[in-house]
This record gives sequence, structure tokens and C-alpha cells, in this order.
Amino acid sequence: MTAQKILFASSEAFPLIKTGGLADVSGSLPAALKSLRRDVRLMLPAYRSVLQQLGGARPLTTLELPGTLAPVRILESQLPGTSVRLWLVDAAEHFDRDGNPYLGPDHQDWPDNAGRFALFCRAIATLALDQAGLNWRPDLVHCNDWQTGLVPALLAGHEHRPATVFTIHNLAYQGLFPADTFATLQLPPALWTMHGIEFYNQLSFIKGGIAFSDVVNTVSPQYALEICTPEFGYGLDPLLQSLGDRLSGILNGVDYAQWNPARDPLIPQPYNAYNFEQKKFNKLALQRRMRLPVSDTMPVIGFIGRLVEQKGIDLILAALPALLKEDVQFVMLGSGHGLLEQGLTHAMEHHPDRIAVQIGYDEELAHLIEAGADMFLMPSRFEPCGLNQIYSLRYGTLPIVRHTGGLANTVTDTGEATLASNTATGFVFHSTRPQALADTCLRAVELYRTQPKVWRKVAFNAMHQDFSWRRSARLYLTLYQQAERQLKNRP
Ligand code: ADP
Ligand code: GLC
Repeated sequence: MTAQKILFASSEAFPLIKTGGLADVSGSLPAALKSLRRDVRLMLPAYRSVLQQLGGARPLTTLELPGTLAPVRILESQLPGTSVRLWLVDAAEHFDRDGNPYLGPDHQDWPDNAGRFALFCRAIATLALDQAGLNWRPDLVHCNDWQTGLVPALLAGHEHRPATVFTIHNLAYQGLFPADTFATLQLPPALWTMHGIEFYNQLSFIKGGIAFSDVVNTVSPQYALEICTPEFGYGLDPLLQSLGDRLSGILNGVDYAQWNPARDPLIPQPYNAYNFEQKKFNKLALQRRMRLPVSDTMPVIGFIGRLVEQKGIDLILAALPALLKEDVQFVMLGSGHGLLEQGLTHAMEHHPDRIAVQIGYDEELAHLIEAGADMFLMPSRFEPCGLNQIYSLRYGTLPIVRHTGGLANTVTDTGEATLASNTATGFVFHSTRPQALADTCLRAVELYRTQPKVWRKVAFNAMHQDFSWRRSARLYLTLYQQAERQLKNRP
């Protein structure tokens, strides 16, 4: 038995709405499952910007749900660039607003996030039970992150329900709300227990996903181990541990149609592993664009990401004095916490010929950095999977990463043994001390300067790594089978 009809639920999906890697996954995995001949429907909230991009979306049905006065419309469209059917939950009061899906214009969480995503979960659960008159009953619902965490909890009590899979993309975001929110959401009272969605007298959306799903996974094998420890488990580690073999890790794939230096329309000079020397023209373009001194021999270290504690930006800032003793340039793109934005901007103001920073979100610059930098820095304190290091491998932009989560599963350090076995693909350090980061960057810079042939060889290995979705999608099909078995054999 293997799930044929899959309802895939997420709060973001590329190219329609993206704040991070979750969107890349939700934009690619459903299409990869489709190409493995599964019938997949993707569910997203009908954010204002999504509706604007899609033009006309067809009304399919209407739901009466607790938590909103107006009827909720389900609209149908297609995920652009794919043949995946898209179902949008259209509740104007909750989703028809400008800006970020989770944050208001003041950069704080929208005050009604609990209600917004509870409504989203209710709509998903209603469709999952085929209670909306659509005559389509999924075999399995695949939920992603806390915004969909109540779905398995709402489905759990139903005799004839689909199997449920919950994927943790980041345990640091849990959808925690004060206890009195529970009453306002009109959820089944039975859910309010320590075995349910109550968590130390708070309401936890993510706990709904973890405690009630048939199987749970996270986005790398290493992170699946880490979240079972107090250091990375945020108090959920005992629950996660208790899942035993119902918790696993599947590495994300990447979309090589988007991220391939040989066919990337967003970079000035295409290149591949066999004409690697062409890559330097992208470096020159990047230096010009970022107003850095232009030099094709200068090592350039890139960074792209959300500027949050997770990503180790403070480590980069602390390591800069040691790093700037060498002749290197830094190009950094990101947005996030004000203090970290300021820290990077100050560093640029003090070293304008060495450090270029752009605050904001810029898809095109992200591609130019991947193509133009020589090295890509990801010193994350934790990293469930991480996508940029995988893009970097394909661009021959050698990743410098901390040994954590998906970074540990995707990058192999360069040393004598891994050079001999042609498995070296980047540079890896273990400690969270800034000195460890600085030492490893300097080790990379030294190799770049003194041994160009070896550098090329490592880049060649890196560019031949294959993290395409097909492999990961097959692993998800196996996981779906496990979920269906689990459902069938439940006591
Ligand atoms: P996370 O999901 O924790 O943010 P990932 O590495 O999984 O980290 O994915 C981040 C995704 O978001 C990548 O596709 C990356 O290129 C993109 N990204 C992050 N910040 C920016 C930015 N400022 N501009 C453009 N793309 C960005
Ligand atoms: C999260 C994680 C990141 C992961 C992404 C997609 O946002 O922080 O490591 O790659 O989700 O799964």
C-alpha cells in the first residue's frame, strides 16, 4: 500500500510566497511527488500577494468554520511553473493583508497569528476528511511546521481519517501562545492536556503535529538526532525521543532547474565544472555590483540568509577582526533582527573596501553571490537542513560550515584523506567559538591562494554532488507507507 492521494499543507511555497527554506521545499517536493505519479494538492493560505500574483483563482467550495464570521472560500489554481494543483484558503479577515505571512509592519508577530493559523488548520482538516463536498479524499496529509501543527490533532479523533505526516523544518519556531488563547480558538477541550497541545501551560501548535501524527520527520538525519537532546529540543526532546522509529530525518532536495550555474538566467556568465575558470566573470560582476575593489584573484566569501541567532551572525561579527588580517572580501545579503543588521552595516562602514552588505531580500543578488563568491559561509548554531550550502556546492562556491544538522550531512571537510578519496567538498568546523570560524576560513583562503589545482579538484567534487528532489521524494514515499501502516495498526 502506498499513498496515492496526498494533501500537502504549508504556510509558504516558492515562487508565490517565501520567507525561507520551507518555501523552497513546498515549491518543489509536491512537484517531485507528482512526477512519481502521485495525485498531490498543495494547500496555502490565500495571502493578498499570492492572489495578486495568480490573477484569477477559481472558487471551488465554501466552508463554515469556527473562528471567523464570514464563510471561508477554497480557491483552486496551479503552482506556477508546475502542474501541481493549488488550493487556497481564502479568509479575508485573516490573510488579506500586506506584508510578511507571520509579521506585521512593526516586525512583530501578527497579534492574531493563533487564530489565523488555527483557521488554516481547520480548513485543511475539513478537506482532509472530504467534508467540503469536493469528492476527493486524500490517503495522507503531509503537514509542515507549526502553522499546520493543529491538523493532526484535529484529525486524530476521527475513525476514518487519512494518515498524517508532520515535517519539522525548524523546531525553534513552535507556535506558542498564552493558555487563554486556547479557549478563544474553540478547539476540542480534550486537546488541552499534557499529552495534547498544552505545553507548560502554554498552547503549542507544533506539539499538535508531533504528538498526534502517525510519523514525524525532520529535514536531515543529523537534526533528527539533535532534537532529541536537551540542547536542541526546547523541552520537546522527551516527547521526540519517545517516538522511537516514528521519528526520522530526510534531507531536503534542491531544485536544480533554479540553481544550476550552467543554466542560470540570473547570472551574467554561465559555467560548469569543466569550464570553471569562467566563474570569475561572475565574481567581477559581483564586486562591481557591491562596489568592492574589482580583482579576480581576491578571495570572496559570501553569505545569504535570515539574520537571526540561528545563523551564527554574531560569530561572523566576532571573527571579523581575525579574518580581516587576510586579504579577503565579504559579500553578505540578508534581513532580520535589527541589531544584527546594524552590526553588519557598521562592519561595512568601517571596511568599505572589504565588506559589502545588502540588507533586504533579493533573489537575483542571491544567485549572483552563489555564482560570484569563491566560498560560502554558514556558521549556523543549528541548521535543520540548510539549502544555501547545497546550492553553493553546485556553484563550486566551497561551503564553510559548522558541523551541525543538515550542514553536517551535506558538506565533507577537505583534508588529506578526503582529498585522496575525492570526497572533499568544503570546509567544516565544530566549535561555536569565533576563533574556530576564523581558523577555518583562513584555512580555506590559504588553499585557494596557494593550491589552485587542489581547489579546482574540490570544486569539481562539490559540483558533482547530487541532492536532487527525486531521491528525497522517494524517501518521502517510503515514509508515507510507514505512516499508513502506523494508522492501520493503531490500537
Ligand atoms: P532558512 O529556511 O532557515 O531560512 P535555508 O538555507 O533552508 O534557511 O533556506 C533559505 C532560503 O532563503 C534560500 O533559498 C536562500 O537563498 C533564501 N534567502 C534567505 N535570505 C535571503 C535574502 N535576503 N535574499 C534572497 N534570498 C534569501
Ligand atoms: C528551516 C530551516 C532550514 C531548512 C528549511 C527547509 O527554515 O531553518 O535549515 O533548510 O527549513 O526545510
